[in-house]
Amino acid sequence: MQDRTELFNLPSCKIYRPVTIAGGSYSNMLGMNLARFRKFPEVKEKGLRQLPRMVAFTSAHSHYSNKKNASLMGLGTDDLIRVKVDNQGRMDVEDLERCILKATGEVGSAPVLRGIDFYRPLAY
Ligand SMILES: Cc1ncc(COP(=O)(O)O)c(C=O)c1O
Repeated sequence: MQDRTELFNLPSCKIYRPVTIAGGSYSNMLGMNLARFRKFPEVKEKGLRQLPRMVAFTSAHSHYSNKKNASLMGLGTDDLIRVKVDNQGRMDVEDLERCILKATGEVGSAPVLRGIDFYRPLAY
């Protein structure tokens, strides 16, 4: 089998190998799994029991597989938080900041402009 790095003309890198995923739903789940593993690598040995409550943020327009995947990954579907989008389908960074503040227990905090600037590139 031809190396996918060559096949898709990707830059070669010693720390990753490309993989081919069967479909969008599974790709989204793998992404969620990788994000969780990056934040809590101990999940591999200890399982979900040892982890704090987790939430995930997704665009209000995101694919419904994210809801199913959140459930499969051990998050409640209530913990998949849908962020508003603008009229071009871009994530509303001010709503994202509000959602993050609410999820982290800082309900009612005024959005911090510096924070919004940090999130803005996520919307494009
Ligand atoms: C962003 C996104 N996620 C998930 C899916 C679902 O893909 P599949 O039907 O291959 O699981 C699609 C399909 O178009 C998609 O665009």
